[in-house]
Amino acid sequence: MKLKLFFALFLGLINVTFSQSKIKAIKAGKLIDVISGEILKNQIILIDSNTIVGIGSNISIPKNAEIINLSNATVLPGLIDCHTHITSQPSGDYYADIFRKTPMDYAVTAHIFTKRTLEAGFTACRDVGAAAFVDVALRNAINNGEIVGPRLKVATLFIGSTGSHGDLNGFSPFLSSQFPKQMSGVADGVDELRKQVRYNVKYGADVIKFGASAGVLSEEESVGAPQYTQEEMNTIVEEAKVWGRKTCAHAHGAEAIKMAVKAGVASIEHGSFVDEEGIQLMKKYGTYLVADIYNDDYILSEYGKLGYPQKIIEKERLVGRLQRENFEKAAKAGVKIAFGSDAGVYPHGWNAKQFFYMVKFGLSPIQAIQAATINAADLLDWKDKIGSITNGKFADIIAVEGNPLENITSLEKVKFVMKDGVVYKNEIKK
Ligand code: ARG
Repeated sequence: MKLKLFFALFLGLINVTFSQSKIKAIKAGKLIDVISGEILKNQIILIDSNTIVGIGSNISIPKNAEIINLSNATVLPGLIDCHTHITSQPSGDYYADIFRKTPMDYAVTAHIFTKRTLEAGFTACRDVGAAAFVDVALRNAINNGEIVGPRLKVATLFIGSTGSHGDLNGFSPFLSSQFPKQMSGVADGVDELRKQVRYNVKYGADVIKFGASAGVLSEEESVGAPQYTQEEMNTIVEEAKVWGRKTCAHAHGAEAIKMAVKAGVASIEHGSFVDEEGIQLMKKYGTYLVADIYNDDYILSEYGKLGYPQKIIEKERLVGRLQRENFEKAAKAGVKIAFGSDAGVYPHGWNAKQFFYMVKFGLSPIQAIQAATINAADLLDWKDKIGSITNGKFADIIAVEGNPLENITSLEKVKFVMKDGVVYKNEIKK
């Protein structure tokens, strides 16, 4: 501090430094150290502006510090969801969502979802597919402090082949849209794919997402079928690398998973039909599995009422149970797991409901929390910034009543949220 003050005086920045450097001191009754997996008692976390500058039980609190008393709570790093679609969620009218709305509608309402997500304790998300660069606008507005939401890494347009999960299927070929072809994310063959990756990067993509296999919530056939050749997948990953971007692959099918892993993706999304060979390949390549294993409950109970075609609901019946069983196999085999919920398929803010299933299907509570903290930070290439309560990292800190290591569902009721040193929610009983 003294050093900082000295430099501030020296540079004539004294006012700025004073107003920004009011120290906050969190008194944490219990703290989950996600690196060691231990619960630490009676810790003090010092925060200067947006950064953690001290942590321990024997730390002296500066005189003018603002005290945040979380003595009755369990404190942990902000949660990270590596698979969201934060720009939308089903409105209840399937056809209106596809045909009557424009990206402007989504742009106007998305700030509601970013706020809900943050208030649910998710201080960072990797958003993996949005129309018309709405995700870029959101990320920038959040970074500029204009709207409230988690830190975002965004994929922009989902890259998919003609007729793929990323294309519009099940309708007349005479339906046409007027926006530039590349704005659809539909690209075939190595030349188009290189260009599509460049286009996404040009307009703001932090990460590249493509469809390796078919999907559930789209009307094409055979959910597991590959939708790109090996050469095409290799091209996407290779081109993304040129631009310093990681790639993630939407992949349900066993074959498509293996192809995407061999192409070098950083993560497999969904991973529903992964087989033993795929599990071994993922271990060998260090590929993360990001599996949305809460979704099935919501889709089966709600999507009929929300107007989705029966065909889609039937596909979900094929996928949901197997996805959970295969998740368990992969988790037990030691595949790296990062938390990703696919929020947007179900209401934003419910992200944490997935923890229960991660624990039911193979992870210990601390492993599930690590999936949403240090592992997720690693996948997002933000390991030096977030994912644990560590000196020098951003002050993204949450708290719950109760102990998530004993009852993982306590994470569904996050009572305290700090992001970047700013408190957005504090409902902890004093
Ligand atoms: N976006 C995914 C898809 O359409 C959602 C899959 C949901 N179902 C599941 N069991 N995870 O393919």
